[in-house]
Amino acid sequence: MPVYVIVGASRGLGYQFLKTISEQDPSNIVIGTARTVDKAQEKVKTDGLKNVHIVHGDMDDHASLTAAAKKTAEISGGVVDYLIVNGAYFAMPAFANAADDYVGKEDLFLDELRQIMQTNVAGTLFAFNAFMPLILKSSIKRVAAISSAASDRNYIFEGEDINSLHYATSKAALNTLVAKFAARYKHDGVLFVSLSPGWVNTHDDIPKEIMDKVTVSLFRFDKALKGPLTPAQSAEKCLRVMDGLKKEQSGEFLSQHGNRIWLDEK
Ligand SMILES: NC(=O)c1ccc[n+]([C@@H]2O[C@H](COP(=O)([O-])OP(=O)(O)OC[C@H]3O[C@@H](n4cnc5c(N)ncnc54)[C@H](OP(=O)(O)O)[C@@H]3O)[C@@H](O)[C@H]2O)c1
Repeated sequence: MPVYVIVGASRGLGYQFLKTISEQDPSNIVIGTARTVDKAQEKVKTDGLKNVHIVHGDMDDHASLTAAAKKTAEISGGVVDYLIVNGAYFAMPAFANAADDYVGKEDLFLDELRQIMQTNVAGTLFAFNAFMPLILKSSIKRVAAISSAASDRNYIFEGEDINSLHYATSKAALNTLVAKFAARYKHDGVLFVSLSPGWVNTHDDIPKEIMDKVTVSLFRFDKALKGPLTPAQSAEKCLRVMDGLKKEQSGEFLSQHGNRIWLDEK
């Protein structure tokens, strides 16, 4: 009965990881962290997920992640086999801005950059460090950070994705952070991956003008693209990549297919 921890599991893909892992094998122990525990617990109850525990954790607050790891150890007996850091800040509505939109708006750029680097990069470092003592006690030792193809040079250039400046920059930094952790724990047998989940249908709430800019780049990049994955499809693919990860791949930035093909044409 492996132990999984999903950091940032209140909704979207993060919540789907809880659901998929719980349904794949009822003997799995699944722990999700959320900023608002009650809301997440309510969903778990409604979905009848018996083997899922929700603990408080805010990626902007390292002490809360240390406390989450302590609570996790009490639930799991001190071990975590799989850690997935999923939570992210998206910098809406600045998400739609291109580099030259910040001429004369430099303070806006800096404010959003500070927040997005804090949550997406520093928050991942805090989560990795908080849970590492539990990962090191496992015989499986798999760690993923959920990244995005938005940080891939080919996607940016070929898709002409001039928007999502803060977001893509934070995910590029995240990819490097993951490589650094992979090198740090190379001789301890911990395998890390920075994992792009594909285009996933999680955001009904994004303003149309922003969504249009995102989707036009996606279809420009891949002419055969049909549409987004469901959260369930993406979660299943991501978990397969984590399981199939080889030693020599540790620290790589991979897609939901386990390679550098970022989208799904089916
Ligand atoms: N959807 C896509 O097409 C897509 C594509 C590429 C990559 N991704 C990546 O996939 C991951 C999940 O995205 P999604 O589409 O599921 O987004 P989402 O539905 O907006 O969910 C974002 C999650 O991040 C959590 N979060 C935000 N700030 C946090 C913080 N400070 N501490 C802890 N949790 C925090 C949110 O929790 P609250 O409920 O507390 O706000 C929520 O659970 C992200 O890393 C995203 O960058 C998504």
